[in-house]
Amino acid sequence: MIDRLKQIKLLTVEKIAELTDFDSLNDLKVKTLGRKGEITMLLRGLKDLIGEERVEAGKVANEIKNTLENLIDRKTIELKTKELEMKLKDERIDISLPGLPLQVGRKHPISMVTEQIKDIFIGMGFSVAEGPEIESDYYNFEALNVPRDHPARDMQDTFYISEEILLRTHTSPVQVRTMERLAPQIPVKIIIPGKVYRKDDDATHSPMFNQVEGLLIDERITFANLKGTLMLFAQKIFGEEVRVRYRPSFFPFTEPSAEMDISCVHCQGQGCRVCSHTGWLEILGAGMVNPRVLQYGGYDPEKVTGFAFGMGIERIAMLKYGINDLRLFFDNDKRFLTQF
Ligand code: DAH
Repeated sequence: MIDRLKQIKLLTVEKIAELTDFDSLNDLKVKTLGRKGEITMLLRGLKDLIGEERVEAGKVANEIKNTLENLIDRKTIELKTKELEMKLKDERIDISLPGLPLQVGRKHPISMVTEQIKDIFIGMGFSVAEGPEIESDYYNFEALNVPRDHPARDMQDTFYISEEILLRTHTSPVQVRTMERLAPQIPVKIIIPGKVYRKDDDATHSPMFNQVEGLLIDERITFANLKGTLMLFAQKIFGEEVRVRYRPSFFPFTEPSAEMDISCVHCQGQGCRVCSHTGWLEILGAGMVNPRVLQYGGYDPEKVTGFAFGMGIERIAMLKYGINDLRLFFDNDKRFLTQF
C-alpha cells in the first residue's frame, strides 16, 4: 500500500507540474483527493491492515495527502498569477506612446501674397475696401465707361446671371462703389482685393482668380504719384533691384492708360523663357482715372484727379515663386500647398 501511495504521489506531482489550466487541475484534484479519488479509495483499505504496518501506512498517506494538497494550492496560486499577468499584458496601455500629430493648417499661397500686397499698401496709407462678387452690369462696365457693345467688353467675357447681373470680371467696380460712398471726401486711398470671374481656362487663366485694385483720388494727383507708388510696391514685393517700365495701353476707365512691366525676376532682364526673351514681365494695368469715372463716382474732375491700377494676384504669386501652371493654386494638392 505504501508503495502504491508513493507511486500515486510521484505521478500526481509530475502531472501538477505539467498542468497549465484550472479545469485540468480541478479534475486532477477530484481524481486524486476527492471523495472517490484514488488516495481516498486506497485509504479505505487501511482498516484491513494491522499493527505497525497500519500506523506506518496511515502516516505516509497523510503526509502524501498534505503534500499534494499543498502542491495543488500552490499551483492554483501560480495559475491565477499567470492569468492575471496575461490579462494585464493584453490590456496594457502604453501611455508613453507619442500622440498622433495634429495636422496644422497653413495659409494658401494666394492668401499669403494677398496679405503681402495689402501690407505694402497699408504701409503707404491705403485702406482696404471690398465689394460684391455678384455685381451689376452698371458697376462692372457702365460706370467704368464701358458702354454696352463696346469692344473692350470682349476681353472680359463673363458669367451672366441675367441681363443686368453678372459675376464681376474685375475689382474695378468697387472703385465707383467706394467713390459713391465717400464723395466728396478726399483723399480716397484704397486697395480692393477680391475674387473675379471670366470665361477663360488654361495654364495661365482660370475662370475664377484674384485681383487687387488700387485707387487714389486727391487734389493735384499726377502720373508721377502713380509711378512713385507702384515703383515702391514693385521693389517691396520683388526686391530692391527690380526695374520697372510703362507701356502705353488702353482701358476705358483710365486716361492715359499704361501697363507696368518689371525686369524679369528670373533672368534679371537678360532674356529667358519666362519673359519670352524680352527681359520684361507685364504685371499690372494702371492709369489716371478717366474724368467720366470720377463723375460717375460723384467727384468733380475739375477739382480732383486720381490714379488707379489693377493686378492679378495669381500672376504675382507665379512670378514670385516661379510657378508655371496657375491651376496648381486650385487643385488643393497638399504636396504643392505645403511648400509655402
Ligand atoms: N480692371 C482691369 C482688368 O481687369 C485692370 C486695371 C487696369 C485696373 C487699369 C485699373 C486700371 O484700375 O487703372 O484687366
